[in-house]
Amino acid sequence: MAHKTTLRLTALVSAVLLLTACGSEGSGGSGATGGGGGGAAPALEGRGEITLATGKDTSNNMQKLAEEWNAGHPNEKVRLVELPDSADGQRQQMIQNAQVKSDAYTVLNMDVVWTAEFAANRWVVELPRDQFDLNNFLKPAVATAEYRDKLYAVPVYSDAGLLYYRKDLLEKAGVQPPKTWDELTSACQKVKALPEGANIGCYGGQFDKYEGLTVNFDEAVNSAGGSIVDESGKPTVDTPQAKAGLDKLVNGFAGGQIPQKAITFKEEDGRRAFQAGELLFMRQWPYQWALASKTDGSSQVAGKFDVAPLPGDGSGPGVSSLGGHNFAISAFAKNKATALDFIKFFTSEAAERSNLLATSQAPTRANLYDDADLNKQFPYLKTLKESILSAKPRPKAVRYGDVTSAIQEAAYAALTKTKDSGTALKELQAKLQDLLK
Ligand code: GLC
Repeated sequence: MAHKTTLRLTALVSAVLLLTACGSEGSGGSGATGGGGGGAAPALEGRGEITLATGKDTSNNMQKLAEEWNAGHPNEKVRLVELPDSADGQRQQMIQNAQVKSDAYTVLNMDVVWTAEFAANRWVVELPRDQFDLNNFLKPAVATAEYRDKLYAVPVYSDAGLLYYRKDLLEKAGVQPPKTWDELTSACQKVKALPEGANIGCYGGQFDKYEGLTVNFDEAVNSAGGSIVDESGKPTVDTPQAKAGLDKLVNGFAGGQIPQKAITFKEEDGRRAFQAGELLFMRQWPYQWALASKTDGSSQVAGKFDVAPLPGDGSGPGVSSLGGHNFAISAFAKNKATALDFIKFFTSEAAERSNLLATSQAPTRANLYDDADLNKQFPYLKTLKESILSAKPRPKAVRYGDVTSAIQEAAYAALTKTKDSGTALKELQAKLQDLLK
């Protein structure tokens, strides 16, 4: 145990270096371990049992991969801890744990939008960049795992919004998959004129007041030529383009194209409605593909749907928000060396392939998108890759929780007609100016 003191000392020195580096914002450094002002990531110590705190394991594949890991690591087993369904619920639980410095969660399955907040608060530790082959990962996904040029997580799966549509009904009505919101509305009218389309809802997304609403609002704004923040991170939501985007959703609800009950939809509610055949179009993540394709009776639309890029404003395809999940290591966890190896295992090519096959979630490893067999099984992979590469990240903010709440408040008020969209956006702009200073 003589080297324990040395390790502690090294950790202490690294912590001091880290503090110095963080103090001088913009001191830059290459971000690579050992390069520039970045310095090497502190060593991760401790081996033994770990936990993985994660959102719902909808396909059971996380459990399967965990069992695979456990079989090869009998003394370093991982146990899954399932957190609430919604992104906000998961974030809250992880923060509560961090605030009391609990070691209950070792590896955190983090939403891509939390990195800045968790890194700045030192709830997660820096990871050694040189131990991951990040050049083989999709660049936008890697960027979500970084904060001030350092790596705090590793991308496990990416996410981009896709327009799911009932190809059987569109074909019957003789219409092409829509490229714009106007085409979508007119396709709807044609399908509703068919006997089998009379009762179908036109469009669904995620409109409950939670992170999914932030995503759907951002996409509506970006797809109408607006933006939430500009390149330098300054808020830009009080514009005619942003209003045009939000108004598409507001008018969608008012005109009945978006069914009223969609105001309570999170991902899973919408998925169930689509699978029950209640919706013609649906904005959803790739994970829905596998579940809606099941032929065990749980989906009435297996083989009857396809996906297209999100609808745009006529000048090009719509713009997705960049979603996805990264694995990070809690600063308060015990067995960090085991956790690091577990993350390597979970982000290996073999694990990502297995995850795609079981869950239809978007891989973060670029080469899987060019794999002929996978393309045969998941014909939407090319569309998905393009959507991810052109997706807009949500604002990177240390106070992300407040930023997303402000967006949710504004969008929800407009959709439920408690505020007109212009006022909601004006107020949101002022709040964001304060939060993103
Ligand atoms: C998905 C996305 C995530 C997003 C969330 C919103 O899990 O991967 O980035 O924040 O949905 O509900």
